[in-house]
Amino acid sequence: MKLLVLNGSPHAGEGNTAALTAELLKPWREAGGEVAERYLARMDIRPCIAEARCLVGEPCPIKDEVDSIHREMRSADALVLASPVYVFSVTAQLKAFLDRSMSLLHRPEMTGKHAVAVATSAGMGEQETARYLGACCEMMGYNLVGELAGVFMVYTRPNDRDSLFAKAQRLGEELVEAVREKRKYPKLGIHAAKHRFLRDLIQRNRKLFKGDYAYWKERGWLETRWPPKGEY
Ligand SMILES: Cc1cc2nc3c(=O)[nH]c(=O)nc-3n(C[C@H](O)[C@H](O)[C@H](O)COP(=O)(O)O)c2cc1C
Repeated sequence: MKLLVLNGSPHAGEGNTAALTAELLKPWREAGGEVAERYLARMDIRPCIAEARCLVGEPCPIKDEVDSIHREMRSADALVLASPVYVFSVTAQLKAFLDRSMSLLHRPEMTGKHAVAVATSAGMGEQETARYLGACCEMMGYNLVGELAGVFMVYTRPNDRDSLFAKAQRLGEELVEAVREKRKYPKLGIHAAKHRFLRDLIQRNRKLFKGDYAYWKERGWLETRWPPKGEY
């Protein structure tokens, strides 16, 4: 079992987001699962320049480390997408990576894999940010096992931290079981609706979204009802 962590914090391994993620991953490590952690702020990830080549199905003209992260996502069984809250949203580093991953959000290649979204804050915006990260995972096709939002304030009472860390571990246990049992999570109910929207968008813009169109057509997803029978 291989799991990839993408963490948007510049604090890398020493921050609150890394601490909460470490708790979440205890059950995974105890189960003998492999973990690869990538700190996007330490990597070469440049912003999207909107040439839209990825939509057409051509390689991105920017040559940096984004492609290698996508390869790691494809080869892992699970993803933890994590960020501190910066001005009510994810960090610029993580946002740049997500913008550059637009083709993955248009082609649910990660269907069958599992994900957890993690956001930490000083008290404002962590729920919304975790939801945003969760929605991105769902768009990429992941079974979203859960969203974890944590508040880290200097005056956080120890019992708050204890209950947050306990919650993280419970979610981590569920993640292990979900991957082992290949559980499906249409839990939040928006998965299918988002993909239905995407199908219509791609069909209507088939000239511009040539790469997406070919991908969806090859799988027979444009003609059939969504979600395809048995997928969810
Ligand atoms: C530029 C910047 C913007 C921030 N914006 C918010 C915010 O909007 N809401 C909030 O509650 N905390 C905000 N914070 C605090 C961080 O979200 C919080 O300390 C987080 O747990 C840091 O995680 P890390 O140690 O993994 O980097 C901000 C911090 C920085 C540096």
